[in-house]
Amino acid sequence: MVHADYAIIGGTGVYDPALLNNPHEEQIETAYGVAHCTIGEYKGKQIAFMPRHGKAHHVPPHQVNYKANIQALVDSGVKQILATAAVGSMRQTLPPGALVIVDQFLDFTKNRPLTFFEDGEPVTHTDMTDPYCGRLRHHLSQTAERLGIHAAPGGTYVCTEGPRFESPAEIRMFAQLGGDVVGMTSIPETVLAKERGLCYATVAMVTNYCAGMSGAPLTHQEVLDEMAQNVHLMRKLFFEAIATLETGISCTCQSSAGNM
Ligand code: HPA
Repeated sequence: MVHADYAIIGGTGVYDPALLNNPHEEQIETAYGVAHCTIGEYKGKQIAFMPRHGKAHHVPPHQVNYKANIQALVDSGVKQILATAAVGSMRQTLPPGALVIVDQFLDFTKNRPLTFFEDGEPVTHTDMTDPYCGRLRHHLSQTAERLGIHAAPGGTYVCTEGPRFESPAEIRMFAQLGGDVVGMTSIPETVLAKERGLCYATVAMVTNYCAGMSGAPLTHQEVLDEMAQNVHLMRKLFFEAIATLETGISCTCQSSAGNM
């Protein structure tokens, strides 16, 4: 199997390994199922690119095999993951096109695998004080600043079950609870990465104001169109961030869980 140190998980609108040189498509069998990624090189770094919803966006958010995806990256040697996510915004200060390096989540999923630690595994309660790696967030913030890309250095991601969009009443509730952006994929991906002791960060791209905020119905096409306009920024930020990351890691992510 080809080795990679870093991974990019591409969310909605990010399906193309883009800048990777010498790309190899890999199908990785894990104890949790099969995962697909492309492994290649950028400025001397080995990077795995994994489109979360499949190459043609055929897997809906509630059916993504999150466990297979994270385990496949672990098995490939990946220690640090940068993930993209299309999100709706609940804040007028975060208009479509805004980037948010999220630092907290609120989990409103209902029916997804929660953990690697089941079926005879030891009972494990993983620390979620810093759910998205603080070191990677800081590095992304600094890289964005250097590139002249505006990215909010924090924000709370509300994860819903989907695949439907939210009702305006749900959005009002989430906003009152402290949510900033809403998406359908950060849970359980973030949690599973933490359970495996990986450094993981998400940059959310606002594609729309949330339901009930714009006066018009919300469509998936609107999300795709906005993503297509801004995906080049995300790509630039991620590849530059990885090019300037060290492989040696010193942060608490490795000791957050029983990372086996
Ligand atoms: N809600 C949930 N997920 C999303 C949205 C939204 O408004 N926009 C993009 N992904």
